[in-house]
Amino acid sequence: MDSAQTLTIRPAGTADLAPFFAYLDDHLRDNGADGTPLFQPVAPGQPRLPAGLRIAFIKGIDIAVGQPGWRRLWLAIAPGGDIAGHVDLRGRPEPAATHRAMLGMGVHRVWRRRGLGRRLLATAAGWARDDTDIGWIDLEVLSDNLPACELYVRAGFTTVARVADMLRIADASHDLSYMTFRLRQG
Ligand SMILES: CC(C)(COP(=O)(O)OP(=O)(O)OC[C@H]1O[C@@H](n2cnc3c(N)ncnc32)[C@H](O)[C@@H]1OP(=O)(O)O)[C@@H](O)C(=O)NCCC(=O)NCCS
Repeated sequence: MDSAQTLTIRPAGTADLAPFFAYLDDHLRDNGADGTPLFQPVAPGQPRLPAGLRIAFIKGIDIAVGQPGWRRLWLAIAPGGDIAGHVDLRGRPEPAATHRAMLGMGVHRVWRRRGLGRRLLATAAGWARDDTDIGWIDLEVLSDNLPACELYVRAGFTTVARVADMLRIADASHDLSYMTFRLRQG
């Protein structure tokens, strides 16, 4: 297997979104399947991403950082051109929280556990620190998604709350953890 160092991580543009959505539809097949914990708050077997999420990417990628609805996406590209992983940042819904961003990410099943998740996190955090005034990165993660929770804790995220029984998915109760990473003081 190739090392994750052979992958290129680059910002995504509008032309990348169609292949990105195909990759995400495939990624979603892992949700709660074959030993992968639930990572999306939908029942296992849901075949496609919600249309609203696609629209949020299509619109948000052209919205200036700090304006309502902004989003930025980075893709890890394998030597053959396939998408191996992604990370995205988006503005929070609260108008008074433009100094914070929300993070989402995933790594294709064949590339996991080779350091790509760590690289993707570092890419998004580096951009936010160097190219924006964003001071905090927040995320929500299902508390039983141990691979993701471990990745975030090891990257320096702090769990600020764990809400018991926040989600009921396919008749099972799940806690939701809220995590945050401070990029700068003030
Ligand atoms: C969570 C996820 C992004 C991790 O990506 P990855 O590329 O495999 O992560 P890395 O190889 O960079 O791992 C970095 C560290 O995270 C932790 N980690 C990652 N996968 C782990 C696992 N399966 N079990 C325990 N710890 C794990 C380890 O501490 C690891 O460091 P180590 O390998 O030196 O022990 C990947 O498993 C994934 O895409 N899962 C499905 C989607 C998902 O959960 N997205 C996040 C939703 S909030």
